Amino acid sequence: MKIEEVKSTARIQRISAHSHVKGLGLDDTGVPIKIASGLVGQLQAREAAGVVVDLIKSKKMAGRAVLLAGPPGTGKTAIALAIAQELGSKVPFCPMVGSEVFSNEIKSTEVLMENFRRSIGLRIRETKEVYEGEVTELTPVEADSNLSGVGKVISSIVIGLKTTKGTKQLKLDPSIYDCLLKEKVEIGDVIYIEANSGTVKRQGRSDVYATEFDLETEEYVPLPKGDVHKKKEVIQDVTLHDLDVANARPQGGNDILSMMGQLLKSKKTEITDKLRVEINQVVNKYIDQGIAELVPGVLFIDEVHMLDLQTFTYLHKSLESPIAPIVIFATNRGRCTIRGTEDIVSPHGIPLDLLDRLLIIRTQTYNTNEIEQILKLRAQTEGLSLTDGAFKLLSEIGTKSTLRYAVQLLTPANQLCKINAKTQINENNINDVHAIFLDTKRSSKNLSDKNAKYMY
Ligand SMILES: Nc1ncnc2c1ncn2[C@@H]1O[C@H](COP(=O)(O)OP(=O)(O)OP(=O)(O)O)[C@@H](O)[C@H]1O
Ligand SMILES: [Mg+2]
Repeated sequence: MKIEEVKSTARIQRISAHSHVKGLGLDDTGVPIKIASGLVGQLQAREAAGVVVDLIKSKKMAGRAVLLAGPPGTGKTAIALAIAQELGSKVPFCPMVGSEVFSNEIKSTEVLMENFRRSIGLRIRETKEVYEGEVTELTPVEADSNLSGVGKVISSIVIGLKTTKGTKQLKLDPSIYDCLLKEKVEIGDVIYIEANSGTVKRQGRSDVYATEFDLETEEYVPLPKGDVHKKKEVIQDVTLHDLDVANARPQGGNDILSMMGQLLKSKKTEITDKLRVEINQVVNKYIDQGIAELVPGVLFIDEVHMLDLQTFTYLHKSLESPIAPIVIFATNRGRCTIRGTEDIVSPHGIPLDLLDRLLIIRTQTYNTNEIEQILKLRAQTEGLSLTDGAFKLLSEIGTKSTLRYAVQLLTPANQLCKINAKTQINENNINDVHAIFLDTKRSSKNLSDKNAKYMY
């Protein structure tokens, strides 16, 4: 069996509104610290989220689901992203919004399935016999072509590899020359060549060359230790979706071929259920053999009330499958009609049988003091400066309307402040933006007062 590196397609997280959140801010015993890691208050929900993180890390949560429920702007999305930060980059975390499943081109269940597979990781460990070192010499040996008698062919490659222990010269088959060219190997690069397959992997440039003027993207690695010829453990983290993609679109070349070779013979162009079943079988085989380990990650579905009955049913079924991630839902709805039905009203717009499986974490509205702390954190991240009075005023506005409204006033207030050639946002700026931008409450009051003036 051969596995080569598959490019991870993990998506970049949408965090701009939450860029101040760095984690759950818990102490060693899992108790939340009042203000830490960019989070303020919301202690119960943070503690519960910490327990969820522990369960995920100890792999006791697969196939379970958690619901974050609470009024708008109470930090549900922020806490979910904090969970992602706590889990680290090795555990897949796939964020999506409920409405993403509706598309004209792709079935909603297909979107959901893809995201399910993005949230399940596979850690593949392999011990390989390799030749590893810094390239000190790279000479193709030419010979007269004995077929036509004209021209030259490469008969072998002489390559010098250096480690801390010494240098070794290898004479290699010419087929490896193509691999070396493809990886763009030069003298001074650290590479390893797999003894069985002859696959070449360039790890980076030897850090001896780090002082040279070079491209910023270059990665420098230390000179390998030990012998040139050795056994090396290679670890790769991929998601099931990465495997689906790699096998669905064969791009040719050595690296893809070695990626689960048996699946590639029939050229597949789209990810079908059949392909997924095949991949699952191979994955299960690897797990049984102890080569691979399943890493159930997190699928985060924000605004879950946007899903319709059909998707909920599919979701419920998928949670039962043996390979399932942990699903975290979030919603700000109370009782409402389930989408896709005429009149089935359910708490949070989620069907009761699914709701029954969930662990529910509640988030609560913030008091004026907490809002002020959050505003301070936001101002700091956005590089804004406010007078004490401005902070007080804005947090009172936030208490009366919503936290999000108050946070959103920061940027326009700064704009006014700049126009007035001031460096610090003051109460006047806040009052001005509060007057020109409405929050939902004032806007809907406005609508009901002046309803007759609008078109209907
Ligand atoms: N406890 C907190 N500490 C620090 N920042 C917070 C906290 N709670 C919320 N925020 C920030 O306030 C803003 C609104 O919070 P968030 O988007 O998480 O609310 P939500 O509960 O997801 O709301 P909605 O139901 O409308 O989606 C975000 O910028 C978020 O980062
Ligand atoms: Mg949200």
